[in-house]
Amino acid sequence: MNKETVTITDNRTGKSIDCPIKKGTHGPSVIDCHQLPSKLGLFTFDPAFVTTASCESKITFIDGEKGILLYRGYPIEQLAQHSSYPEVCYLLLYGELPTREQMDNFNHSISQHTLLHEGLVNFYKGFRHDAHPMAMLVGVVGAMSGYYPDALDIQNPEHRNMSAVRLIAKLPTIAAKIHKYLIGQPYVYPRNDLSYVANFMHMMFSVPMEPYQFNEKATRALEIMLILHADHEQNASTSTVRLAGSSQAHPFSCVAGGIATLWGPAHGGANEAVIRMLHDIKHPKNIQEYIRRFKDKDDPIRLMGFGHRVYKNYDPRAKIIRDSCYNLLEELGMKQHVLFDIALELERIALEDEYFIERKLYPNVDFYSGMILRALGIPLNMFTVMFAVARTVGWVAQWMEMMEEPNLKIGRPRQLYTGAQRRDYVQVEERI
Ligand code: SDX
Repeated sequence: MNKETVTITDNRTGKSIDCPIKKGTHGPSVIDCHQLPSKLGLFTFDPAFVTTASCESKITFIDGEKGILLYRGYPIEQLAQHSSYPEVCYLLLYGELPTREQMDNFNHSISQHTLLHEGLVNFYKGFRHDAHPMAMLVGVVGAMSGYYPDALDIQNPEHRNMSAVRLIAKLPTIAAKIHKYLIGQPYVYPRNDLSYVANFMHMMFSVPMEPYQFNEKATRALEIMLILHADHEQNASTSTVRLAGSSQAHPFSCVAGGIATLWGPAHGGANEAVIRMLHDIKHPKNIQEYIRRFKDKDDPIRLMGFGHRVYKNYDPRAKIIRDSCYNLLEELGMKQHVLFDIALELERIALEDEYFIERKLYPNVDFYSGMILRALGIPLNMFTVMFAVARTVGWVAQWMEMMEEPNLKIGRPRQLYTGAQRRDYVQVEERI
């Protein structure tokens, strides 16, 4: 018998089963509970999946207590310092850092798929002039399921890889087109002579009247942002993509579901909510009153950009973004930026406050990211779109990994039913 087991005993019946323990490379081992229903007639109960490992994955590892984040084993700090976003995309998708030739081929492949079908332009026109960019992103990416009939054979690994390349290549074009549509400026087509991130900045900010002035440090700050947001294990939006993919749905529809999930302020929408919160605070002298409100259970306001389901220590991405933000503000001559001052003071006070300390609430990736995006001239309502552009590679890498599983089963959680007992229909005349 496998010695590494956990014995579960139902004290009502005295029945026991030995559940195998599965050990990973890093992190907690897991209990394989799949025999519980058949052997003990029991389900596990874990609302919000706080303690549930929903799958086995080789892509990203997080240690919440130690504040560790690895992409395919490489520390996020080293990737942020040395890598490029396309190289991180290759690593997440295929598991290894590319050779120079592999990187050139991948860059070429991406550059061949940055254009959108011109028919999609009409789709944009259906949105109100003040639609939220995330509503448009969900719609346009979902609509793209209707444009690639050759991507529907998801049992074909080449089709799956092509869908992944298309999504990574087209998300910046789609996002930039949304931005241009909402500000009433002409769309800017992608340029194959530019790097992935420079091309994104070009499509977002170029205007017909004059050439776009690139700022290398600003482009690098955005690239670091994209690297840090690329993947994050089984977060809410990635879990949505996996669950949708488990039904064999079209990959573009799965990613549209991930975008919809990311939009929530408890998830990717937090970067926009942080800036709105800093604006509401207005001045460091108001911070103590807001700290009181963040702790008041009767007040729905929360300290946005703080806290995390997994990180019970400083989010390693937040440290990198804070330094990158400071350097960018200095480069752009915005060092004494009042929002940044409020954020630094808010972080200092919160990290000394018992409420946040005992609940292990630290800044997460969203606390400083909004300030970088704002300094780059990206409108507030586009912040979560930027997160979605970055996370697309994580979604498709996790989807590809799941689709390669030999015995892929559709995800289908069960429940604890506490509704009415079985009862017979009552004619309306007899109801009181
Ligand atoms: C992302 O999962 C991922 O990996 C996500 C992400 C990714 O890369 O994909 O990292 C990206 O989504 C980062 C998180 C962005 N969201 C925010 O910044 C929104 C503010 N944060 C919270 O809403 C909250 O911290 C969550 C949603 C992030 C985590 O919530 P949990 O794990 O469900 O924790 P909880 O709500 O049970 O909170 C535990 C306690 C509670 O107090 P008590 O009931 O114990 O008294 O901490 C309190 C909460 O009230 N609390 C906060 C707080 N976060 C938690 N109180 C004030 N401000 C906060 N931000």
